[in-house]
Amino acid sequence: MTREHRGTIFVEDGDVLSHVSFPGDQHVLRIAAPQAAVRAAPGQFIHLRCDADIPMRRPLSIQRADSQAGWVEVLYKPVGPGLAALTRVREGDRLNLLGPIGQGFRPDLSRPCCVLIGGGVGIPPLLFLAERLAGSDSSPVAFFGSELPFPFITQASALRLPVPAAATHSLALLEAWGVPGRLASNGGLTGCYDGFVTELAREWLTSLDAGALDQCGIYGCGPEPMLRATQQLAREFALPSQLCLEEYMACAVGGCAGCAVEVHTNDGPAMRRVCVDGPVFDGYTVYPATPG
Ligand SMILES: Cc1cc2nc3c(=O)[nH]c(=O)nc-3n(C[C@H](O)[C@H](O)[C@H](O)COP(=O)(O)OP(=O)(O)OC[C@H]3O[C@@H](n4cnc5c(N)ncnc54)[C@H](O)[C@@H]3O)c2cc1C
Ligand code: FES
Repeated sequence: MTREHRGTIFVEDGDVLSHVSFPGDQHVLRIAAPQAAVRAAPGQFIHLRCDADIPMRRPLSIQRADSQAGWVEVLYKPVGPGLAALTRVREGDRLNLLGPIGQGFRPDLSRPCCVLIGGGVGIPPLLFLAERLAGSDSSPVAFFGSELPFPFITQASALRLPVPAAATHSLALLEAWGVPGRLASNGGLTGCYDGFVTELAREWLTSLDAGALDQCGIYGCGPEPMLRATQQLAREFALPSQLCLEEYMACAVGGCAGCAVEVHTNDGPAMRRVCVDGPVFDGYTVYPATPG
């Protein structure tokens, strides 16, 4: 069953096609949702009813979407009762979702080197962006960080990237798409840079000359401290940045203003709804330079 909401957001009842659990209570869920799949763009999210007894939906970034097969995929890690209930869903069960929602990433074509920086459950929208940019005129480079084992197949990368020698591994998906990538962790994971993902990205950015830096733009998603560090990196290298934010959401379609955040525009501070004005914002408007 599909209904249209505001012309671009669809309400769908979709069968669960697969639901795979990974160490660290991380789960990848694929749902049949043909309308959302056709329109999904990186940075957008679905608003999912996790359980019949829990009225509040939960927002989850779209990690991948296949418009031909008609599915969307999400990666989640429960922190409370909604996503904990979702872990009990089985293949063949039916879930109700709203999607796709929000303003996603808008790759800057004048800067073809898209530097993707994702942390934890902030990796999904950037994996989606990597897939969409692969084979385009852009040349994405991905840096992903996690303290838990990555909920993906990882492997030694065959794609050259000037980063510290210990950072050997990438995601098998990135390798298959021909997107150079490396992983970071403070958790001692095999083949990972030992530190934060933004430090790994800094190592790589430092290896670039001024001409190469002029081609770069930063795209980030992850926990707030990581987003702040990502914006700090953008500022340090004078690069444009787009950051995907998280905020608690009620309606997720722009009606309640429960998700409003302050951004800093040329006309001064303004409130923006993360659900429909974002979740992707210009990093400089979200984390402006602090005076002094
Ligand atoms: C656009 C977007 C994309 C996201 N993508 C992902 C993703 O891909 N994967 C993923 O795992 N997570 C993602 N999240 C985060 C996820 O939706 C939230 O963390 C969600 O609340 C988790 O649901 P839960 O049932 O596990 O926990 P909840 O029951 O929501 O509780 C989590 C914690 O937050 C507190 N809390 C809940 N609501 C409020 C509120 N209104 N005000 C203050 N505190 C509150 C609770 O007390 C609890 O401590 C995304 C969020 C947004 C906005
Ligand atoms: S959650 Fe209601 S306006 Fe964003």
